[in-house]
Amino acid sequence: MNLRSVFLGCLAIAFFITACAHKQVAPTPAKPAVVAAPPQVSAPVPPPITSAVATAPVYVPDYSHAGQALPDGVFAWDALSKSVDAAAEQDFARFAFSFTNVTKDNVTVLNVHPSCGCTTAELPPTPWTIPAGAGGVIKLNVNLAGKFGTVFKSAKVTTDKGNKDLMLRINIQPPVVVKMTDEERAAGLAKAKVDRQAVFKGDCASCHAKNLDGKYGVQLYDAVCGICHDAERRAQMVPDLSKLTVPTNQEFWRTWITYGKPGSLMPAFSSSQGGPLTDVQIASLAAYLNVTHPTHAPQPAQ
Ligand code: HEC
Ligand code: HEC
Repeated sequence: MNLRSVFLGCLAIAFFITACAHKQVAPTPAKPAVVAAPPQVSAPVPPPITSAVATAPVYVPDYSHAGQALPDGVFAWDALSKSVDAAAEQDFARFAFSFTNVTKDNVTVLNVHPSCGCTTAELPPTPWTIPAGAGGVIKLNVNLAGKFGTVFKSAKVTTDKGNKDLMLRINIQPPVVVKMTDEERAAGLAKAKVDRQAVFKGDCASCHAKNLDGKYGVQLYDAVCGICHDAERRAQMVPDLSKLTVPTNQEFWRTWITYGKPGSLMPAFSSSQGGPLTDVQIASLAAYLNVTHPTHAPQPAQ
């Protein structure tokens, strides 16, 4: 026997003793109640357990069918499996399943458990009793953050007559890659040569400055910088930001994004310069780029 097993043995004994002690202690809460009762009741014999009569009826869920499948002919569902399409940038996929109690008795929904923490169920407080002939709706919302492709989820509806699984399928569409025709491209280029801020105006903004509110860092980069700098068929004057030969740092990025370059196609993004971005958004881009595009050239000697 080594020290560890002695220790574990003692622990087990200590547990056993506490468990026994608890067992003996357990009945005591009942005692004061019995002792305390007589002073309030003048009759020599206290009436038998009046408290049970006084208490409001408490709903006691019947879990006896909990492990069983809900038989057919209890709930009539509009569907047991549903499929929706979601856009790439969509936050949630929302489902609603409706049903009718087609039995002659009450049926009680005890709970609804989604298969994943990303899914929340919306329904009235449980236990939720559905009278014969009545119906209800269970809403399920799937958070799509970080998900792509085809996603399958489910939710288990537990009733006092058994369980039913509701199946969810979400087809997340691939992100839309914006493409321009050659004429549009030439027109854009011509316009931008006259006014480099044109990209943020009118039609141009529908691609170059779309849904920027609340975007920061990588998301913002993809929305406003990548469209020019990462485009496969970009004009040759648009540099590859990962291959710059000048020294870069956070301040370099911040300055370029804020002011762009007059006389070129690189627009000024700061709202102080007529651009679409706030200082906080620009700072988030500068921080992001400083990490993802570290300098390739030695910093100038200070
Ligand atoms: C409308 C297309 C367009 C958009 C949008 C755009 N740029 Fe540019 N950017 C250019 C062009 C063109 C140049 C080259 C300017 C020149 O002639 O020197 C450039 C130059 C730059 C440079 C200078 C690189 C060097 O050679 O030193 C940086 C840095 C830069 N862009 C960063 C960004 C960032 C970050 C964003 C997003 C906030 C962005 N750009 C958005 C077109 C664009
Ligand atoms: C349908 C979406 C869309 C619209 C609308 C649009 N652009 Fe673009 N723009 C792009 C894409 C995508 C690129 C990247 C190059 C490519 O793929 O053709 C780009 C690139 C550019 C460039 C960099 C030069 C180049 O060709 O690579 C400039 C400048 C520009 N656009 C200006 C404009 C202006 C000005 C307008 C409005 C007149 C405009 N764009 C409208 C999608 C669009």
